[in-house]
Order: sequence, then structure tokens, then C-alpha cells
Amino acid sequence: MRLGIVQPGIALARLRVGVLISGRGSNLQALIEACAELAYPAEIALVISSRPDAAGLAHAARAAIPSAIVAERDRAGFAAAADQALRARGIEAVALAGFMRVLDDAFVEAWRDRLVNIHPSLLPSFPGLHPQRQALAAGVRFSGCTVHFVRPEVDRGPIIAQAAVPVLAGDDEDRLAARILAAEHRLYPLALRLLAERKLRVVGDRVVIAGATEAEGMLLNPLA
Ligand code: GRF
Repeated sequence: MRLGIVQPGIALARLRVGVLISGRGSNLQALIEACAELAYPAEIALVISSRPDAAGLAHAARAAIPSAIVAERDRAGFAAAADQALRARGIEAVALAGFMRVLDDAFVEAWRDRLVNIHPSLLPSFPGLHPQRQALAAGVRFSGCTVHFVRPEVDRGPIIAQAAVPVLAGDDEDRLAARILAAEHRLYPLALRLLAERKLRVVGDRVVIAGATEAEGMLLNPLA
């Protein structure tokens, strides 16, 4: 077990996190870099990919993190195999990072309030596919990203943290996506830290951050 130094002289067990990916894995890489800091309260102990060719698997390999490919097509089969792999590694919390499959309700319930996702919009606006395209079509002045606890309804669930970025004249989907992605890479480590520090309490549909001002769940100036 690796220990994280929370305060000089006090070492606490780090939260063992499993990350589920399907593709590029840039958010996985951001989490790997955060976990490389001695004082960070979480460690990634398993990466599961739903696709054998996911580029993100190389990030796990480079960081010597065990990985597994779970490619079962049906929801229940995928959930059972993923759940077994996570429990076999003693995983305590699961982070979805560009994971493109819908999880079955039993999996979501089994990991309730220990299962988080990042989505490239300011939820509850623009859930689902192509959120950047949706933001451009709606003409919003700000968009951003959200880390939230997962619930059975896709891209819904109590919000842990958000970062806002401007939508600029001349943006197309790719430019806006890149600006949001830079914010995602800072927001996800911040949100996972709050979870690992056991600071999050779900009250109804909302997350209360213990002993903190609301600002802990906001990433201000994400592009600075
Ligand atoms: C990110 O924009 C994430 O918010 C969304 O899918 C994208 C995944 O990117 N869910 P990456 O695989 O982490 O690079």
C-alpha cells in the first residue's frame, strides 16, 4: 500500500481508484500526473478499457499501472466483468474518463457515490453526445466541464465541481473542445482530491463539500 503525506508526520492510505476509458485517455493522463505527487490522496490502481485499441492504454503502461480490457458488448456482461476486475484489485472508487459505454443500473447502484464522471459542458446543460456542438448552437457565452457522481440517467447526478471557459467568436467545435479539455485536465484532479479526502457528502441531489467554501468545487480561471 502506498501512503500519501497529508500533513508532515501524518500518512494516510491513499484512495484506490479504477479509471474506465474508451479512447484517447488525456484525462487519465492528467489523473496519473496528479497521483504522481506524493501528497495527492489517491492512486490509480487499475485502468479498464472498453476497447482493445484505446490509445489511453499506453498512458497506463508507461506509468506501470495494471490495465484490463473488458470488451463485452452487452451491458450486464460488461458490468459484471468490470465489477469483478475492480474488486479483485481492491478498488474503492471509479472514475469514468472518456468512457463511451452506458453502464447498467446495477453497476451504478453498486458504486453509488463512489463513481464519478467528467463531461465537457456545464451540466445540466448539454448532456449526451456533442456537448460542444450543442453549446455553439445554443449561443451560450460560457461553457465548461463538470465532474459529477454518476446516476442511472446519462450525464446526470450530483455535481462535485465545475470549471467555466468562454465561448469566443470564431470558435468551432474543435477549438471550443480544446479549450474545455484544458480545463478538464485541471478540474478532474481537483474533484478526485475532494473525493479522496472524504470531503463530499451527497444531500438529496446536491453535493456538500465539508468544511469548505463553495469555491472548492469551482475551478476559477481554468485557463490561467
Ligand atoms: C473528454 O472531453 C471527456 O469530458 C468526455 O470525453 C472526452 C474524453 O477525452 N467524456 P480523453 O479520452 O480523456 O482524452
